[in-house]
Amino acid sequence: MTAENSAGPGGPMLDIRGLSIRFKTDYGVLDVLDGVSMRVFPGEMTALVGESGCGKSVTIQSVMRLHDEKRQVVYDGEIFFKGRDVLKLTRSEMRAIRGGEIAMIFQDSFSSLDPIFRIEDQLLECVPEDAKRTQSGARDYAASMLERVGINEPYLRLRQYPFEMSGGMRQRVAIAMALSRGPSLLLADEPTTALDVTIQAQVMELIRELNRDLGMGVILVTHDLAVVSETCERALVMYLGQIVEEASVGDMLDRPAHPYTLGLVRSIPQLEGPKPERLYAIEGMVPLPGQITRGCRFAPRCRYALPRCCEETPELRPVQGSQSARCWRIGEF
Ligand SMILES: Nc1ncnc2c1ncn2[C@@H]1O[C@H](COP(=O)(O)OP(=O)(O)OP(=O)(O)O)[C@@H](O)[C@H]1O
Ligand SMILES: [Mg+2]
Repeated sequence: MTAENSAGPGGPMLDIRGLSIRFKTDYGVLDVLDGVSMRVFPGEMTALVGESGCGKSVTIQSVMRLHDEKRQVVYDGEIFFKGRDVLKLTRSEMRAIRGGEIAMIFQDSFSSLDPIFRIEDQLLECVPEDAKRTQSGARDYAASMLERVGINEPYLRLRQYPFEMSGGMRQRVAIAMALSRGPSLLLADEPTTALDVTIQAQVMELIRELNRDLGMGVILVTHDLAVVSETCERALVMYLGQIVEEASVGDMLDRPAHPYTLGLVRSIPQLEGPKPERLYAIEGMVPLPGQITRGCRFAPRCRYALPRCCEETPELRPVQGSQSARCWRIGEF
């Protein structure tokens, strides 16, 4: 497929191909991403899941080119957004895309709000140029965005400072800011982390509604598979800088093809049915990028690993339909 037709009708709006990232650090070069490929279609919610340190944030940050390219990061691969490789864009072309065409809700979204400015000062920055022609037009637009994310009394809220709002409201303000310019693509990095479950459900429902209404593509980064099952169509599972499984959310949950995915699915706490004595946990921890061993990266923690798994590196292979997995033992466990 060429870059041009990847952006055409029915094609993906975002097409990451073979993205590898190395960070130059004081203690050597770290291979943080290895050959990551993923596609996002308009109006679709794609989940990116995996344990802490697997490379979820680094992947979506690279779409916005947020890393320190002068001193720290080396990219390899392509990131086509609407047919253009963002890794080849100039700084000013990138600035035009960031926050407008592609918006991001940061993992630590409280820090996206500046505590010393009122909400309106921050939200008005994100209002599109058309609405900015008059001051009242800009405020009306900002208020309507707050209403769209379910905040009552939006004109009163605009006058407030972040500390006058609850955590869930601040989170929704950050989401409103991200959505203000009507982005085609939303990169949501654990948008509901640190929220109680009621507000979490409310915020996810808002993102889902806006995703349907605006037809935008969404990458939802999370390690919460319960949230994924309720909101996303497709899922990519990351382990130590690689995609180890790609599947529809239904397939991922019902018949995971990679032992790592199986472990993640078994770790979901169940509210109904008989309670297990102990919650399932994948043994061991994600190694650091500098500790990558030969063979399958998950093999040292995998209960199904064979000697071959520690020697030879598996590629992503088709399983069934659109499901694929990076495992030598697909279908054997
Ligand atoms: N600027 C950087 N320099 C060096 N290493 C980095 C840098 N940013 C991230 N890393 C490393 O890259 C790996 C992936 O980090 P990343 O933040 O993408 O993880 P994550 O999957 O988002 O985890 P979490 O669920 O905790 O947010 C980690 O080992 C991290 O230490
Ligand atoms: Mg992260």
